[in-house]
Amino acid sequence: MKSFASFSFFLLFTAIASVQSFTPPTLSSSSLPIFGLGAILFRPKNLSIVLNEGDDQQLVETAKFFTAAFWAGKAGGAAKLSPTQVRSLSNSQIAEFRKRYGGRLLKNKRDAKSEIIICKNSENNQVYGCAGIEVSKISTPNGKSVDFSAPLMSNLAVGKQVRRKGIAEDLVKATEDLARLKWGYNEVYLYVEKQNTPALKLYKKLGYKVQWEDDTATTLIPTAKGNIVTQPTVILCMKKNLGAGFFGRFFD
Ligand SMILES: CC(C)(COP(=O)(O)OP(=O)(O)OC[C@H]1O[C@@H](n2cnc3c(N)ncnc32)[C@H](O)[C@@H]1OP(=O)(O)O)[C@@H](O)C(=O)NCCC(=O)NCCS
Ligand SMILES: *[C@@H]1O[C@H](CO)[C@@H](O)[C@H](O)[C@H]1NC(C)=O
Repeated sequence: MKSFASFSFFLLFTAIASVQSFTPPTLSSSSLPIFGLGAILFRPKNLSIVLNEGDDQQLVETAKFFTAAFWAGKAGGAAKLSPTQVRSLSNSQIAEFRKRYGGRLLKNKRDAKSEIIICKNSENNQVYGCAGIEVSKISTPNGKSVDFSAPLMSNLAVGKQVRRKGIAEDLVKATEDLARLKWGYNEVYLYVEKQNTPALKLYKKLGYKVQWEDDTATTLIPTAKGNIVTQPTVILCMKKNLGAGFFGRFFD
């Protein structure tokens, strides 16, 4: 059994390896676009990827980061949030993150399969990105079929000023590593709004396949007028089969 500490080290190591080594052994040159290589070279310095492991202060910082990165500029919404919107969204985001990934949960249930992975500057702790993963009920749309449990990735966001540098790719791969190597699952599910083109392209690039579409869903939109409204949306459920390799990220 790997300990949590050595697993964190594994994640940290993979992140450092992908930043510092310009020709990682896993990426064949044919699958490495020139733009992608440039993006890796121009990443911020001191970038590291860590498990939160119940750290409440870091969790609150990450929830605040997420509010700006996810809710401002959401399709059909305000580019900039009003102070009231920031307050209300970040308060509910903090509550949500504590409920899902908080230390209390981890202490009570030491094997809780729920974690948030954070990309940050290891020198000043500025958050650049995050991705959550938890074993959860996967609901099929309109109650048409039986629910089951599997790792579900959610709450992925990367800071606007550091996008298109492969940070989301690293975060998603880190959630896959956790689901497979630590929790022993062979698949990861996620939900994404059909209109979210960047996210949809990212997931397709990483090998996620659409499972079903739910056109009865709703989403929240912070409007330019300063309120937050509910709008109909189409949600896609996507799934990736992780395969059997132990260190799949590097050697498959
Ligand atoms: C979606 C998001 C997380 C991507 O983060 P990122 O770090 O910029 O993504 P990466 O640099 O890892 O991109 C990997 C691939 O995803 C695709 N992609 C990412 N952003 C894209 C964009 N704006 N347009 C088209 N494709 C995009 C590309 O295929 C890209 O590979 P490439 O750069 O080699 O072409 C980021 O745009 C974001 O935080 N958006 C707001 C929050 C959100 O929508 N989260 C997803 C909720 S389901
Ligand atoms: C941060 O980056 C600088 C420049 O690359 C390096 O000298 C320094 O050791 C790094 N600090 C940490 C904590 O990694």
